[in-house]
Amino acid sequence: MTEIVEKLYRTGNISDSELKSLIETDDKCVSNLIVKCADETRQKYYGKKVFLRGLIEISNYCRNDCLYCGIRRSNKNTERYRLNREEILSCCENGYELGFRTFVMQGGEDSYFTDNFMCFLISEIKKKYPDCAVTLSLGERSYESYRRMKEAGADRYLLRHETASKELYGKLHPEEMSFEKRRQCLFNLRELGYQVGSGFMVGVPFQTTENIIEDLRFLQEIRPHMIGIGPFVPHRETPFSDKKSGTLELTLRILGILRLMFPKALIPATTALGTISPDGRELGLKTGCNVVMPNLSPVSVRKKYNLYDNKICTGEESAECRVCLEKRIKSVGYEVSSERGDAL
Ligand code: SAM
Ligand code: FES
Repeated sequence: MTEIVEKLYRTGNISDSELKSLIETDDKCVSNLIVKCADETRQKYYGKKVFLRGLIEISNYCRNDCLYCGIRRSNKNTERYRLNREEILSCCENGYELGFRTFVMQGGEDSYFTDNFMCFLISEIKKKYPDCAVTLSLGERSYESYRRMKEAGADRYLLRHETASKELYGKLHPEEMSFEKRRQCLFNLRELGYQVGSGFMVGVPFQTTENIIEDLRFLQEIRPHMIGIGPFVPHRETPFSDKKSGTLELTLRILGILRLMFPKALIPATTALGTISPDGRELGLKTGCNVVMPNLSPVSVRKKYNLYDNKICTGEESAECRVCLEKRIKSVGYEVSSERGDAL
């Protein structure tokens, strides 16, 4: 099996059956070799640098009803909030002082954030902080909306495809949500010149190894600048409340495989990874991850952006998260970069 890892390391690609054997392996030597090769690959292109993104969770209102997500509209037991313009700008100000050069505005699909509102906000942030990148993660919007926000100055857009299997998509989403529409959004974003991030959850209910291989092939097709994957973690107020989380081992193995398949991609060590294991993000960094996304949202709203149970970093001030992450990054031998961190 080690020769399969070496082939992936050398060529960046292997067959479906070879991918299957790596994804399903329980051989520690193979897993260790994936980690070693992933780290060498990441260091070849990015050295020891880890890029920071300041995450601002602007709203937990959502019109969608994804079965896995804690802020789905059917969850009547969550207190809803949205940040106003001043609050978002104050998060950016705080973030800039803490050294962040990317602001990620993420939220549920909330019609309060119209194109006019977003365009005004984006241009204001770009005017105040011309050296910063603005990233959006606001779900599915029209081509025209993406176009206007790009014109207003947005640089990047994160939209996980969630799954490349139409069948699995149907099991994770209500009927009114469309597999084709989500994919089309990604193609539209790419056409409009955004730096695009996509990805999926590991260990989401009903997911098979074949589904994961489909995800990897879809990522090869759209070649995103950033690839965000993290374990599925159940939320008690969703239909998947009794399902198991994705495992640390499988998530790390897929992170390593992703680094070998996409040597130049930006790959975050996600909050979900830190939630299922206290050193999950450090292990992610050692397995090819080169981005972390500390939380910049006001502490008063953090617990309300509850995508899944036991989410970490909900009690800490932004400055504490920043210090905590820098310590974690250094503890595994990497360094915080003060750059914007665009993909190579
Ligand atoms: N509304 C935007 C969208 O759809 O892209 C951004 C917010 S959405 C909550 C961000 C991501 O959270 C989703 O793409 C999904 O992969 C992830 N997520 C949602 N529920 C989760 C869960 N239970 N466990 C782990 N990740 C989850
Ligand atoms: Fe938020 Fe550690 S990263 S407290």
